Parts: sequence; structure tokens; C-alpha cells
Amino acid sequence: MAKLSRIDLQRMKKDGKAVAWVTAYDFPTAQFAEKAGMDMLLVGDSLGMCVYGYEGTIPVTVDQAIMHCEAVRRAAPNTFVIGDMPFLSYQTTNADAVLNAGRFYKEAMVDAVKLEGGIRVCGQIKAIADAGMLIMGHIGLTPQSSGQLGGFKAQGTTADAAISLIRDAEAIQEAGAFSLLVEAVPPEVCRIIRDRLDIPVYSIGAGKYADGQLMICADMLGIFKAFTPKFVKRYADLGDQVVDAFETYVKDVKEVSFPTEAHSYNMISGELEKLNQLLKD
Ligand code: KIV
Repeated sequence: MAKLSRIDLQRMKKDGKAVAWVTAYDFPTAQFAEKAGMDMLLVGDSLGMCVYGYEGTIPVTVDQAIMHCEAVRRAAPNTFVIGDMPFLSYQTTNADAVLNAGRFYKEAMVDAVKLEGGIRVCGQIKAIADAGMLIMGHIGLTPQSSGQLGGFKAQGTTADAAISLIRDAEAIQEAGAFSLLVEAVPPEVCRIIRDRLDIPVYSIGAGKYADGQLMICADMLGIFKAFTPKFVKRYADLGDQVVDAFETYVKDVKEVSFPTEAHSYNMISGELEKLNQLLKD
């Protein structure tokens, strides 16, 4: 299948066709996702927790994020790949935002980048869009500023908070973003945002009234279990399967029931006898 473009994504919104996307941080996962027909892949800074074991996303660096984007790009050449801009790679100045977004483009050949925040990052969104790059906004629960939000909590649950999210969404579109991700927000609020915006509005934990759904691969596959948000649906329990497999392997090795002949190479016929003779001489 050919890689989707911004125009395709826009058309899918118009036609009411949902976009399915997940995060991917490594070559095998991205390969599986492309094979499964995923529309887009996000190399999220959630890799800080899911791959590196950090408590949050704050320590992730641009170099780390780009290295993972490169692996995903190689594995999924026909899938729309989005690089997630880490904390302090864009908040400082518009120039930093453009240069760091440009690194994702030049070094990892991503199709778009994403950053977190509303009105307060619209200068950066405009600067990145003006430099010719596709930039996705991200509002609601924004993990990089979860301290200010009081933790990993649902957002937009009061009328005032919802109005402020709607204003953020409109400003992000106005600044030139090609799409918007809404995280951990009630479905009714996401629906209003989707209906008011011309650009595609995607949901992660923001209900079904969106132009598509994102899930964290490690959550949906049962790999990351430190905490599981309410909006996660688990499609597999790979973590448990891996532990089972490792336990069986340990047992096999200890009991010398692995390896067997089936896992061993044969000497060419007659060579063992020759070897034994050579050892005697
Ligand atoms: O880093 C990430 O995976 C994200 C999602 C939480 C939306 O930004």
C-alpha cells in the first residue's frame, strides 16, 4: 500500500474514514505495524518509559528520539511516520523548534513532527510550518507538562477547561498545524473540537468522535505494565508470554532438555572418527 500523504489524511476526515495508528520505537514493531496495515506510526517520547525505563518523558533527548525514528523509518518505508519532539527541543525559542524539527526530517526522514501544548506553543507551530514541515499539535493530557496538570489526569472535564481546550485547538489550526491529537479528554469535548476544525483531529483516550485513534503499542500489547490508563484496550499479553517463554527456556537449560539434536549441527559423515584418531596421534 502506498504511504498516505497529508492530502489523503485530509480526505479521510472528509469521507469519515478513521485513521488507525500506534506508537512504535523499534524496527520489529514498526515492521509488524506496517504489515498489519497501520495508517500512521508515532515514534512517541513515551519511549522514555516504554523502552528506557524512565519515570516519564522528560529525560528523552533529541538524539535518542531520532535514533528510534531512523529504525522505524527503515522498517516502515510505506507508512506515515511522525517524530515526537522531546521536552525542551521546542519550548525555548522558535529557532530551536525549527532546527530540531528539521533534524527529525533530515536525519530520520520522518513525514511529520508533533509537539505538545496549546496557544503557548503556536509561535513554534507557525515557525515549523513556515519552514515547510508538517507539524501535529497535541492537547489535553500533555505528558511533558503533567506536573503543571497535577499528574496524568483527564483534561477538559469542566466547561471552562473544555472552552480553553477548544480555543487551543483553534489556535493550533490557525498557526498551521496539519492535524491535532487530543489526549484523555471526554468524547463530547473531542467531538466539538473535531467538528469545529478543518484539519484531522485524532484521539488517544478522547473517545470515538475523532478522525482516528492512537494507542501506545506497549500498552495495547501488554508489554508496559507499570500503569495502565483507563483508555487502554489490551489486544495481547506479550509481556506474560515473554516471561512464560523465558521461564520454560531456563527450565530446559537446567534440565539439559535443550538443545536437542534438532538444534545442533552434524559433522560430515566419517569426520568424527578422523578427529578421534587425530586426537590419539
Ligand atoms: O509519546 C507518546 O507516545 C505520545 C502519546 C502519549 C500521545 O505523545
